Amino acid sequence: MEPVMRAALLLSRAKNVVVFTGAGVSAESGLATFRGAGGLWEGHRVEDVATPEAFGRDPLLVWRFYAMRRENAKKAQPNPAHKAIAKLEELFPSLVVVTQNVDGLHQRAGSTRVLELHGSLWRLFCAKCGRTREDHQVPLPQLPPRCGVCGGLERPGVVWFGEPLPEAVLAEAERVSSQADAMLVVGTSGVVWPAAGLVEVAAAWGAAVIEVNPEPSALAYLATVQIPAKAGEALPALTARLLEVQGAR
Ligand code: APR
Repeated sequence: MEPVMRAALLLSRAKNVVVFTGAGVSAESGLATFRGAGGLWEGHRVEDVATPEAFGRDPLLVWRFYAMRRENAKKAQPNPAHKAIAKLEELFPSLVVVTQNVDGLHQRAGSTRVLELHGSLWRLFCAKCGRTREDHQVPLPQLPPRCGVCGGLERPGVVWFGEPLPEAVLAEAERVSSQADAMLVVGTSGVVWPAAGLVEVAAAWGAAVIEVNPEPSALAYLATVQIPAKAGEALPALTARLLEVQGAR
C-alpha cells in the first residue's frame, strides 16, 4: 500500500495529532532551508550571525542577516503544505503545530495552535532587560532599535545556538507530544536538539510517526511511515485521502 494511504489510515485512527515542522515546510514558499544546497548556513557561518556572542561582537551584521530573513518571510506566501496543515484542524480539533520555523507562515495559513520552539522573526526583544514586543515592520530599520524601557539594543526574537528554548513553549510541546496518537514530521533534518527530541517523546508514548521529506531525516528510524515527497505535494494528498477514508466510514 502506498505511503500516503497508509498514513491516512493511521491518521484516521488518531484523536490527538501533533504536526512537527522544520524549514522544509516553507521551502516551497521560496524560503531557504538551513542545511540543504543553497541553505542559509552555506552563505553564513552560524557563529557569525546566530549566536549571542555574534550579536555582542557585531550587532549590525546579525541585524542585517535577520532583516534579510524578515523581508524574505514577508514576501513569502503560505504554500499548499501550510494550508493543508491548517485544514487538518477541521478533522482534529486539538491539533497542535510544533514548529522550529520562525517565519510565521503556519499562522498566516490559518493554523490556530502553533508552538514556536525557536521564537519568531516577528518579535524583538531587548538584549539587556529582555522586554519582548511584536514587531512586523518591513524593512527593519538600518540599526537595531533601542529598548523603550532600559535603552538596551533590541535583537531578533529568535533562539540562537547556545541559547535555551523558551521554557513554557518547550514544556507544552513535550506535553502534547507525549499525548499524541500520531505525529506528522514535516520538512526537518532532525539534527537540532532539543526540538528533534520531541519526535522521540511522541514515539516513546506510542504515537504513529509519519515523516514527510524528500530525503530521510535523522529521525527516519522513528517513522512508522515515510512519505518521500515534497510537503506541498504530500500534505494536500494526505488530507484528501484522509477525507476519503473518513467519508468511507
Ligand atoms: N518538503 C519537505 N521537506 C523538504 C522540502 C520540501 N519541499 N525541501 C527540503 N526539505 C527537507 C530537507 O530534506 C531537510 O531534511 O527539509 C529539511 C530541512 O532541514 P534543515 O535545513 O536542517 O532545517 P531544520 O530541520 O528546520 O533545522 C532545524 O536548525 O539552524 C537551526 O534554528 C534552525 O530551526 C532550525 C533548526
